[in-house]
Amino acid sequence: MKHVLVTGAGGRVGTVLRAHWRAQQRAVHLCDIRDLGEAAPNETIVNGDLLDAAFLDGVLDGVEVIVHFAGNPWNHDLDAIAGPNVIGVGDLYETARVRGVKRVIFASSNHVVGMYKSGERIDTLAPVNPDGYYGVSKVWGEAVARMYWEKHGVESLCLRIGSSVPKPVSERHLSTWLSPRDLCGFIDAGIDIETLGFDIAYGISGNTRAWWDNSTSRLGYRTVDNAEDYAREVLATASPPANPLDALLQGGDYASEGFTNGAAARAQG
Ligand SMILES: NC(=O)c1ccc[n+]([C@@H]2O[C@H](COP(=O)([O-])OP(=O)(O)OC[C@H]3O[C@@H](n4cnc5c(N)ncnc54)[C@H](O)[C@@H]3O)[C@@H](O)[C@H]2O)c1
Repeated sequence: MKHVLVTGAGGRVGTVLRAHWRAQQRAVHLCDIRDLGEAAPNETIVNGDLLDAAFLDGVLDGVEVIVHFAGNPWNHDLDAIAGPNVIGVGDLYETARVRGVKRVIFASSNHVVGMYKSGERIDTLAPVNPDGYYGVSKVWGEAVARMYWEKHGVESLCLRIGSSVPKPVSERHLSTWLSPRDLCGFIDAGIDIETLGFDIAYGISGNTRAWWDNSTSRLGYRTVDNAEDYAREVLATASPPANPLDALLQGGDYASEGFTNGAAARAQG
C-alpha cells in the first residue's frame, strides 16, 4: 500500500475523501492547519501549517503520494491567494522533490478555463483561460507540476475540479458537477495508475451537459454519475443567476466578477 498524505484534509473536498477511505480502512496520513478531530484506526493526523518549512519537511517524511487539497479556494484577492496557492505550491513541490515523493495529485480547478463560453466544448489541451486570480493561481500550480515532471521526474495529476457538491443544485452544476463517488474515483485512479507522468483531467462526473472533455487525459477513469439524473428537479427549482454573465461563462460567478472597461459587453457579444 502506497504511503499517501492528504493536505487540506479538513476542507469540503478532503472530508469526502476521508469518509471514503475510512470506509475502506485505507491507511492514510491527513494534514491540515485546522483541527481534524479524532483519528480513525486507518488515519494518522498531522496538524500544522504547510507554509512552515520545517513542518512541511517533516510531514513529507516517507510519503510516496501527496493529494494536495490545501489552498485558498475562496478569495479573489491576490494577497490572500499568493501564500497558500502560489508560494505554498512551489514549496510543496520543491520539498517533495528533495524528499523523494513520487507523485502529486494536485487540486486544480475549472477556473483555469473559466472565461470560455458556456456550451463551448474544450479538452485538456485547450489553452488556459482563467477567470480571476484564483484561476491564475491554479494555472501556476499546473505549470509548477509540469516543470517538476519535466526536470525532476515528479509525477502529477492536475485534477481540474468542477463543482464538488453532494448533488447538483443549479443549472451550471448540470455541466460542472463532480459527485462524491467520482471525486474519490478520480483520486483513487490517480494514485493507482502504474505510470502517470504529467496529466491533466477535468474532475467532473459523466454529465450529459459537460463542457469539458477528458479524451486527451491518459488517466482513463470511467465516471459513474451523471448530473442529468437531477436535471428535472434542478430546472424546476433553481432560480436564474443574479448576473446574466454567470450563465454565459464557464466559470459562473467567479468569471462574471470584476469586469471593467466595457469588457462585459464584449463577453456577451
Ligand atoms: N470544492 C470545489 O468544488 C473545488 C473546485 C475546484 C477546485 N477545488 C480545489 O480543491 C481544494 C480543496 O477545496 P475545498 O473546497 O475542500 O477547500 P476548503 O477551503 O474547504 O479546504 C481547504 C483546506 O486547506 C487547509 N489549508 C489551507 N492552507 C493551509 C496551510 N497553509 N496548511 C495546512 N492546511 C491548509 C484549510 O484549513 C482547509 O481545511 C482546493 O485547493 C481548491 O482550490 C475545489
